[in-house]
Amino acid sequence: MEIELGNMYDIDNWMNLVDRVKGNFPGLETKEALEEHRKTVLSFMGKNSAICAKIDDKIVGTLLFSKDNNELCFLAVDTEYRRQHIAEKMVSYMLTFMDPESDIVVTTYREGVPEGIAARAFYKRLGFVEGKLTEEFGSPVQEFILKR
Ligand SMILES: CC(C)(COP(=O)(O)OP(=O)(O)OC[C@H]1O[C@@H](n2cnc3c(N)ncnc32)[C@H](O)[C@@H]1OP(=O)(O)O)[C@@H](O)C(=O)NCCC(=O)NCCS
Repeated sequence: MEIELGNMYDIDNWMNLVDRVKGNFPGLETKEALEEHRKTVLSFMGKNSAICAKIDDKIVGTLLFSKDNNELCFLAVDTEYRRQHIAEKMVSYMLTFMDPESDIVVTTYREGVPEGIAARAFYKRLGFVEGKLTEEFGSPVQEFILKR
């Protein structure tokens, strides 16, 4: 498996994975929303802020981050490849690009939502702690913070 920065040549491969996991994400329900997300991914790729995990050239994990906001913006691993520490490796790689003194924030599901069980367990395992309750795309969510 390779963990690397994705570039514009990876976009179709990347969006194929997003299409397989979109059910996990509020805000990716419609064709228009996916088209908008494609543009967002291309813009992150242009800023060297899109990380992917590849197995035999197939993208099985994706992560978007913002250096300016110290934020993990999007994270997904293909269902068949979960629990193989792929997300953990992508987060470790992301941290090499971040200011080591700044806390990292991510927004995820609130407690009690079935879709959020994996993500919340994952972030806690990596040392993130629970933060503010907020809303995103009209859904109740919670911040998780990696304190540094
Ligand atoms: C959350 C997600 C990215 C985790 O990816 P992953 O590659 O399976 O995670 P890892 O294998 O790196 O997990 C590392 C550790 O986190 C914890 N963890 C991960 N998934 C878990 C789960 N479903 N239940 C309990 N603990 C979990 C475990 O401690 C795991 O280590 P272990 O397998 O040795 O016990 C993946 O489940 C996913 O894509 N979910 C759907 C999309 C999503 O929720 N994205 C985040 C929204 S903000």
